[in-house]
Amino acid sequence: MTTDILHEQKILILDFGSQYTQNIARKVRESQVYCEIHPCTLPFDEIKAFNAKGIILSGGPASVLEKDSPLCDRKLFELGIPILGICYGMQLITHILGGKVAPSKNREFGRAELMLKEFSHLFEEVKNNSVVWMSHGDRISKLPNGFKGIAFTDNSPMAAIEDPVAHIYGLQFHPEVVHTMEGTRILNNFLFKICQCAKNWKMESLVEYMIKDIRDKVGKSKVVCGLSGGVDSSVAAVLIHKAIGDNLHCLFIDNGLLRSGERDKVESTFRDNFNINLDVIDAADKFLDKLKDITDPEQKRKSIGNTFIEVFEEEAKKRGDFTFLAQGTLYPDVIESVSFKGGPSVVIKSHHNVGGLPEKMNLKLLEPFRELFKDEVRVLGREMGMPDEIINRQPFPGPGLAIRILGDVTRERLKILCAGDKIILEEVKAAGLYNDLWQSFAVLLPVKTVGVMGDARTYENVMAIRAVTSTDGMTADWAHLPYELLGKLSNRIINEVHGVNRVVYDISSKPPGTIEWE
Ligand code: XMP
Repeated sequence: MTTDILHEQKILILDFGSQYTQNIARKVRESQVYCEIHPCTLPFDEIKAFNAKGIILSGGPASVLEKDSPLCDRKLFELGIPILGICYGMQLITHILGGKVAPSKNREFGRAELMLKEFSHLFEEVKNNSVVWMSHGDRISKLPNGFKGIAFTDNSPMAAIEDPVAHIYGLQFHPEVVHTMEGTRILNNFLFKICQCAKNWKMESLVEYMIKDIRDKVGKSKVVCGLSGGVDSSVAAVLIHKAIGDNLHCLFIDNGLLRSGERDKVESTFRDNFNINLDVIDAADKFLDKLKDITDPEQKRKSIGNTFIEVFEEEAKKRGDFTFLAQGTLYPDVIESVSFKGGPSVVIKSHHNVGGLPEKMNLKLLEPFRELFKDEVRVLGREMGMPDEIINRQPFPGPGLAIRILGDVTRERLKILCAGDKIILEEVKAAGLYNDLWQSFAVLLPVKTVGVMGDARTYENVMAIRAVTSTDGMTADWAHLPYELLGKLSNRIINEVHGVNRVVYDISSKPPGTIEWE
């Protein structure tokens, strides 16, 4: 990105493998300061070149007392840039600057009360005796020269430390998790009182910069974008269209596995409202033919993925020479926490929906959201006038309804699933719960059960309702939907959907279940 003006005020987060590193980044960005996460192995020259206003050393699962624990360059502390070490980060500061870290008999995990001891800019306007979230094994037994303890808890005499002259700070607890009551204030104090950052990471200004960046990068070349109707690809399409107009060509591939009314909605939104060059390709027959007799979930996914690549390539070629493929890849897809279990390697998630396409078609990738979180993409979409209906959509999987029909995927079974799914969406929306749920949908089971309708015996399909709450899809809880709503859903589905005589509710969390059934 060439958003240099916005990036002048950036914070560097060095990741030592904590499960909370992304929380730190999100908190910093919520405070309107740009930041990036880099592995702790980032060479010193690159750290220096990053030109950060402040550096945060994350927590991590290792102990500085272990032989191969991840370290950082001592020169980091001579740059004159304010540094905040969190948990492992604080122990690392102590270890490297000549203090002592000792093993603790008991790991301290969970809530603790933070008692403030000395004035520190880090704790300006922070309430005394607030709850903080601890998660550590080691503790500091001797401070490095120049440091003093500024807060303690019952179990940690050194819950927070500082060297006010060198502007180096350490917290034993995690300010980035919601359980730490004053966490945001403490992080903000670091950003604004200590690093003197300005609040300039704003989505309004970002839109202009991103548009310019896309123009610079793409020039007069043509860009093809696979529109799925989901939030990320939709916002990407609107943004790129603002930048290059008709040189963006969107393809929406109807694989026959879409929710009821989806195709029409995408067509009217993008073609009619946003005037985007959009072709809808009806490839349902091809996808369904290839899926014939496949019942294994992985085989279904592979078949759909391969057919998608085949159709997309064929259709894109028909439409001329494209140089770029646009994708809505997000920051969490790009960087995952560094894992030290198997050595300091960075695990990068591959984008599973169009894997292989760019190489196969010899296309360069255009991924304007590689540095953004999903919430930020949503703000960006709203900023560009996109309707809430698109921005607040629940996620929908690439393989579509095929992985919600257990067993054979046939047109008849798709029709049954679509009808039930439509009722679930209607009623969940009517109950005002749509935005509270991560996802809510129907699953068609491969079993039939006996029922009685009127005076006749029936022998028909079972439909499951799946509704979950989640913040990221990685873990999820089954939603405690009101009984009235469940009752209404069951009644409507059994009465209105031909072929279903029984409705069940899935009460499995993730883990050990997954959100989708296949
Ligand atoms: P699971 O079923 O693994 O799903 O708990 C987690 C989240 O990911 C979505 N999902 C997919 N999304 N392509 C996608 O774009 C896929 O192949 C895919 N499989 C699962 C799922 O809907 C849930 O939100």
